[in-house]
Amino acid sequence: MKFETRCVHTGVDKDATYLSATTPIYPTSTFRWDNLDSHRGFDYTRSGNPTRKALEENLAALEGGIDCRATCTGMSAIVAALQLVSPGDHVITGHDIYGGTYRLFDKVLRDQGIDFSFVDMGQPTQVEAAIKSNTKAIWIETPSNPLLNIVDLNAIVAIAKKHQLITMADNTFLSPYFQRPLDHGVDVVMHSTTKYLNGHSDVVGGAVICKHQQHAERISYIVNAMGLACSPFDAWLVLRGVKTLGPRMEAHQRGADAVARFLNEHPGVEKVYYPGLPTHPGHELAKKQQFGFGAMVSFELKGGRPAVEKFLSKLKIFQLAESLGGVESLIDYPDTMTHSSMSKEDRRTAGITENTLRLSVGIEHPDDLITDLAAGLSAVSQ
Ligand SMILES: Cc1ncc(COP(=O)(O)O)c(C=O)c1O
Repeated sequence: MKFETRCVHTGVDKDATYLSATTPIYPTSTFRWDNLDSHRGFDYTRSGNPTRKALEENLAALEGGIDCRATCTGMSAIVAALQLVSPGDHVITGHDIYGGTYRLFDKVLRDQGIDFSFVDMGQPTQVEAAIKSNTKAIWIETPSNPLLNIVDLNAIVAIAKKHQLITMADNTFLSPYFQRPLDHGVDVVMHSTTKYLNGHSDVVGGAVICKHQQHAERISYIVNAMGLACSPFDAWLVLRGVKTLGPRMEAHQRGADAVARFLNEHPGVEKVYYPGLPTHPGHELAKKQQFGFGAMVSFELKGGRPAVEKFLSKLKIFQLAESLGGVESLIDYPDTMTHSSMSKEDRRTAGITENTLRLSVGIEHPDDLITDLAAGLSAVSQ
C-alpha cells in the first residue's frame, strides 16, 4: 500500500465485535485475566493498551521500523531513546538542536554522567573529529531547529557504522511523509507527535521507532519501567491526526513555499532559512534525502527586537506561540521562547540572533498568510 493509504488504514481495523470504522478508545487502567496464567494480551495500561498499540503499529509502519512506543511527550521519547546509552558514554549532537533537547542533554543527562559534544552537524568532518573512545551514539536533528540546516544522513550513518555508534534521529520537523531516516540506515527515530503527526495542536505526545530487535526490546522495557507511555485518549487523537498526514503536509508545504519566496524578496528581511529555496545551502542535499521541504520557515528581520515587536503587533493569523506542526500558523521568537533554555552565548554560536523569527506555516490559504506577514513588515518600515 502507498504511504497515504497506510496513514489511513494501519492499526485501525481493531473492533472484531462491532466492526467500527475507527479504532475504539480503551480508557481503562487495567484488564481482567482469564485465569491465573493468562490474559488477552493486555494487563495494565502503563505496559500496554489496545488503542496505544494501534497507534504504535501505525507509526512503526510509516517510518519503516519494526516497533514503536508511543510516549506522553516528545521529551519522554527522547528520555527513552537516550536510555540506549549509559553513564560514562559520550554522545555527539548538533549545536542547533531543539532547545528542550539541548536542556535535557546539557543540564540533566550530563549530571547523570553522560557526556555530550555539540558540533556543527552540517559538517560531517566535525562529527568524526568529535568521536572519543567512549562515544556511543550520534543524535541527529534534520532539518535543525530553528535554522533549518540539513544534516547529511548517509554521511553521518557511514561515520557511525565505521565507529560502531548508534544513530538516533529526531524526525519531528518533516514527519515520515517527507523524510524516513531509517531508510538511510539510522537506527532509531524519535518524534514529538505533538507536531505534524497529530497536527491539530490538541495533544502532547511522542514516539520512538526502532529498526533493531535489541533496541526495540530495551525501549519497550524502559517505557514501561519509567512510566513514559501516553494515555489511550491521546493515542487515539494522534491516530486520528495521522490519517490526514499526507494531504496536510502538502498543504503546509504549499503555504511555506509561498511565504518563503515572499519573505526572500522583501527588503525588510535580511535572510530566509527554508530548504526549499534554491539559495539555501542545504537545498540539493534536502532534495536528495527528503521527499519535500516541509513547512518550517525561519528568517532574520532587519532592525532587532524593536522591529520584531512592531512586526508581531500587526499579525492577525500567525499566533505568537511555541510549538509547530498544527493546522494553524504560529510564529516563535527563539531568543526568548523555544531556545531560551540555551545560554545567550550558545544561541549566538548556533546562529540564533535577536532578529530570528521562526514560522510554523499552517494550512491556511497562502494569500492570507502573505497578507498577514506583509502587514507586519509594513509596520516595521513606517
Ligand atoms: C524538534 C523537536 N523535538 C522534540 C520536541 C519536544 O516535544 P514535546 O514538546 O512534545 O515534548 C520539540 C518540541 O517543540 C521539537 O520541536
